[in-house]
Amino acid sequence: SLSQTERALVLALWKKMSTNVGIYTTEALERTFMAFPATKTYFPHFDLSPGSKQVKAHGQKVADALTLAAHHLDDLPGSLSALSDLHAHKLRVDPANFQFFSHCLLVTLARHYPGDFSPMMHASLDKFLGLVTLALVSKYR
Ligand code: HEM
Repeated sequence: SLSQTERALVLALWKKMSTNVGIYTTEALERTFMAFPATKTYFPHFDLSPGSKQVKAHGQKVADALTLAAHHLDDLPGSLSALSDLHAHKLRVDPANFQFFSHCLLVTLARHYPGDFSPMMHASLDKFLGLVTLALVSKYR
């Protein structure tokens, strides 16, 4: 789990992002579809062109889930249980894709918050996204 210092860093950035989490998550999704095109195969029913309203709405949903997770660091599997069912059983998303998205979210946040993005912040966010991924893929077996 995250140390007190790591938690404090993640929560501080979340507070700083305030209502903009959805904007950055949407940008991270667009970056994921661009940098790792195979991820697009999970969204055949989406308009994936730049500026797509569908991707923006989806980005806000993912952002809300991440914000929930940031505030439930002691029980990620519990708070993400329904989403884990969805991604594992219904959508059958290959776990590798979570790493692509996590990477793209880190890059996006580093670009928007260069002054906050110390190696320690990087490590804390990486650990946070790793634990979220673990919770989301926990129902694969
Ligand atoms: C749907 C969160 C990663 C594919 C969703 C929803 C949320 C979510 C909140 C909407 C659920 C609902 O409408 O009830 C997350 C989080 C992720 C993540 C927090 C990682 C941090 C991924 C990845 C993929 C993926 C890596 C595949 C590349 C999908 C698809 C849907 C979905 C296909 C359904 C979209 C639709 O038809 O509306 N996800 N997701 N997700 N997710 Fe994820």
